Amino acid sequence: MERTFVMVKPDGYARGLVGRIVTRFEEKGFTLVDGRVVQLTREHAEHHYGHLRSKVFFDELVDFIISGPVFAMIWEGKDAVKNARALIGATNPSEALAGTIRGDFALDVASNIIHGSDSVENAEQEIKLFFQ
Ligand code: RTP
Ligand code: MG
Repeated sequence: MERTFVMVKPDGYARGLVGRIVTRFEEKGFTLVDGRVVQLTREHAEHHYGHLRSKVFFDELVDFIISGPVFAMIWEGKDAVKNARALIGATNPSEALAGTIRGDFALDVASNIIHGSDSVENAEQEIKLFFQ
């Protein structure tokens, strides 16, 4: 069974969406392996979003992700990386379909409430960093 890393971002945590997001993953058929509230350090955040370092919004993105606690999770299931991202929806909530988490709970790309790993390799890395 594949595992993926999912994180409710500070906006989703502050809005009290953790329970509803966990329920959606359970309803889809995923199994929760682990979950914990984490306050990211700037160093961890810059590493996590290292692939976006050249973007104009990088500093804003790092400031946002360390602005409060996140809820980090490991979910297990068939093709977990791909299926979790389908459940999460498009990066820009304006383009995310209704029925997806971002489609139903978010409006703005800068505060899209949830992260899901984009590859099996990155999922393994992120799980190590958050749950060591
Ligand atoms: P995530 O890593 O958070 O799950 O999102 P993603 O794979 O769907 O998208 P990614 O390209 O990895 O971007 C990471 C986060 O950067 C913010 N972003 N802002 N202002 C913008 O145009 C812009 N583009 C991306 C989003 O919060 C996105 O989730
Ligand atoms: Mg990403």
